[in-house]
Amino acid sequence: MAILVTGGAGYIGSHTCVELLNKGEEVIIVDNFSNSSPDVIKKIGQITGKSVTVYSDDILSEAALHNIFTAHKISAVVHFAGLKAVGESVRVPMDYYYNNVSGTLCLCRVMAAHGCKKMAFSSSATVYGAGTGGPFREDDAVSAINPYGMTKVMIERILTDIAAADPKWGIALLRYFNPIGAHPSGLLGEDPTGIPNNLVPYIAQVASGKLARVQVYGDDYETPDGTGVRDYLHVSDLAAGHIKALEYVENHPGAEAVNLGTGTGYSVLEVLAAYEKACGKKLPYVIAPRREGDTAVCCADPAKAKRLLGWEAAIGLDEMCRDSWNYAKKLQKG
Ligand code: NAD
Ligand code: UFG
Repeated sequence: MAILVTGGAGYIGSHTCVELLNKGEEVIIVDNFSNSSPDVIKKIGQITGKSVTVYSDDILSEAALHNIFTAHKISAVVHFAGLKAVGESVRVPMDYYYNNVSGTLCLCRVMAAHGCKKMAFSSSATVYGAGTGGPFREDDAVSAINPYGMTKVMIERILTDIAAADPKWGIALLRYFNPIGAHPSGLLGEDPTGIPNNLVPYIAQVASGKLARVQVYGDDYETPDGTGVRDYLHVSDLAAGHIKALEYVENHPGAEAVNLGTGTGYSVLEVLAAYEKACGKKLPYVIAPRREGDTAVCCADPAKAKRLLGWEAAIGLDEMCRDSWNYAKKLQKG
């Protein structure tokens, strides 16, 4: 039996493929490479010494998905494939709803047709909406403040309804907080095209000399140093959470929302200081206006993940920055 990983060539998907292969699973990737490179597949092979079967297909094609499910015995799906840029989702909402929501429906229809009803889905802390900053619990109200967030709210609802109607489904709705870092080998990491939207990829490019200075979006929030606080977790810890989630859904019917975060928040300036330590140099920054849609604090209550999945994050901020810099240095050298 194999595990199908949609979006498996992406940032979080590639790290999860490594964990699955290390555990001895057979892994099939389906990815349209709209936001990733086929090179990643080689890197996964280099790290694990194992090979994966790759389908360069779109999850919007039910015919392509049928072929995959016909060619392989698939026991469960880890569903990462999706578009994820908040700002872009405001500009092209139709693309986001089509790709993320319709793509998930295509996948579920094909899974059902082939009797495969176990899934771990990439949701996001964004479903807590403007919220209070947390620590967010899974039974807090969900809402969305942009089309990207709404795709996650809608998909969570769709998957919950599907699981309620048929007890053969077991689905983990994994609400990631802020994944950062890279594989310790420096072979896999996050390499966004264009100017990065997210803090750590931006800092990495300042450290590499590609960008002049970090813009700190606001220093007048109600936080200890006035800058935004987030719950950062190492992408390898996050990947390990998926293995635990797959074990859980195997024996538990229904759809279950689970936060994946550390429960500890760090401010922008604290992350910057940790990154300076990792790269051994001062990183220039300026205080810029607040970014629209940002909240002061966003942190997880990670208790449910520990209780249900037996998972908790183990890797600290210094290691997250060390691994991010290790990857960024390798990219710099080409
Ligand atoms: P990513 O863009 O690196 O990976 C997504 C992968 O899916 C890419 O390889 C892309 O080519 C592929 N893809 C997109 N649409 C597809 C389609 N229709 N058919 C086939 N492949 C398709 O993103 P990531 O950071 O690895 O995120 C993975 C998932 O986790 C996404 O659903 C994202 O919304 C969610 N998530 C990410 C974060 C984060 O901070 N990175 C936080 C919360 C949730
Ligand atoms: N920030 C800066 N400068 C930057 C980028 C970010 O100061 O150049 C600040 C932000 O204001 C925020 C913090 O750094 O306080 C983290 O910002 P990120 O963009 O890295 O992460 P967000 O928490 O804003 O966004 C993440 C995901 C989104 C998701 C959101 C809510 O990237 O997809 O969490 O879960 F919607």
